[in-house]
Formats: sequence, structure tokens, C-alpha cells
Amino acid sequence: MATVSIIYFSGSGHTTKLAEAVTKGAASVAGVKANLVSINGDDIVKGRYANDAVLAQLDASDAIIFGSATYMGGPAAQFKAFADASSAKWFTSAWRDKIASGFTVSGSPSGDKFSTLQYFHTLAMQHGMIWIGLGEMPMQSNGVNRLGAFSGAMGQAMMETPNVAPNDADKLTGEILGKRVAQFALKLKK
Ligand SMILES: Cc1cc2nc3c(=O)[nH]c(=O)nc-3n(C[C@H](O)[C@H](O)[C@H](O)COP(=O)(O)O)c2cc1C
Repeated sequence: MATVSIIYFSGSGHTTKLAEAVTKGAASVAGVKANLVSINGDDIVKGRYANDAVLAQLDASDAIIFGSATYMGGPAAQFKAFADASSAKWFTSAWRDKIASGFTVSGSPSGDKFSTLQYFHTLAMQHGMIWIGLGEMPMQSNGVNRLGAFSGAMGQAMMETPNVAPNDADKLTGEILGKRVAQFALKLKK
């Protein structure tokens, strides 16, 4: 059994929809347990993320998929607070050799989402993790990877309700990413 955790921040629910799709994809792989974990703003006390139970859950995972809404051209501050708290794990190389990947949602088709994925990649590299990209051709006829990203999964949602955006194509893209990460986690575990 391999465990894949999806840790994400969403301010108004759009990234939650993509996170759920990624989780669905990971859980679809036999022999894989998928944990969906949200970053709760109430866990940030005086600017510091403090939820040891969440960090322990990630310690016990074979793969960690990072997710955040893109705010002002990067991950949301709440995600960064979590990332800064993960420095406690960096000191002991606790996440070394775990698989990593990432996803994000922003309002504009580009919206500088790549900066967010790039930050997730840097975070993973600092921890000595192994990055898995999307591995899908861009703008497929069914809408998969319609935004043309390779480093991870991207979704787009502006003012629509989260029930409408990110759209089905973006959610399918997220599902594919979750499944791919889970398959690699299982391979590595074996
Ligand atoms: C503080 C803030 C900053 C934002 N910055 C960007 C941005 O840099 N690029 C962009 O395309 N959209 C930006 N947006 C729009 C959000 O990325 C978009 O609405 C997204 O769907 C929000 O996801 P969430 O509902 O998971 O929080 C911003 C929204 C907020 C509230």
C-alpha cells in the first residue's frame, strides 16, 4: 500500500475542486490510499503555520502533491506559511526521496500560474523529493491540459462559482496528475 497526500490551500473553493479531482485520480489506483488535506488559515498563529498532525500525516506519505490558488503571481500566503513550517522536516531530511508534484488554479488563462508550480518544484527540490510532471500533450481534443502546462496541473477559474470552474477538462487534467503520481508512488514502494 502506498499513501499519497494532497495538501492544498483554497481561499474561495476553486482550488478545492481541483484538489478533489487530483485525489480522485490518486485513489483510483489499486493499492494506493489518498489523503486530501487542506491548509486551514486558523492553523497560522502569529504568522506561523502550526499543525503538527498535518506534518506527521505528510511524514507518513510516500508522495505529497502540493496545491494552492495562485495569488499575486505565486502560491497563497497560507501555503507559504505551511511551506515555511516544513523547514522542520528539512532539518531531518524527513521528506527526502518522497515523490512530489503540484497543481494550481488562477483567474486568467496564464495568470502567472507557472510561478506557483515552479515554487512547488523548488520546495520539493529543497526537501530532496522526486518531481513528477503532468506527462500529457497540450490542448487535447477532450480538453485535457487545455492550458498547456507540463510541470503540473493547471486550472482556471475567475468569478464563477466553484461548481462551474475549474471546468471538467481541468478536473480531468487534475485526475490524470493524481493517478500518475499514485502509479509512480506504488512503483517506488515496490
Ligand atoms: C489575493 C488574490 C490574488 C490573485 N492573484 C491572481 C494572479 O496573480 N493571477 C490570476 O490569474 N488570478 C489571480 N487571482 C484570482 C484567483 O487565482 C482565482 O480566482 C482562483 O480561482 C482562486 O482560487 P480559490 O477559490 O481556490 O482561492 C487572485 C485572487 C486573489 C483573491
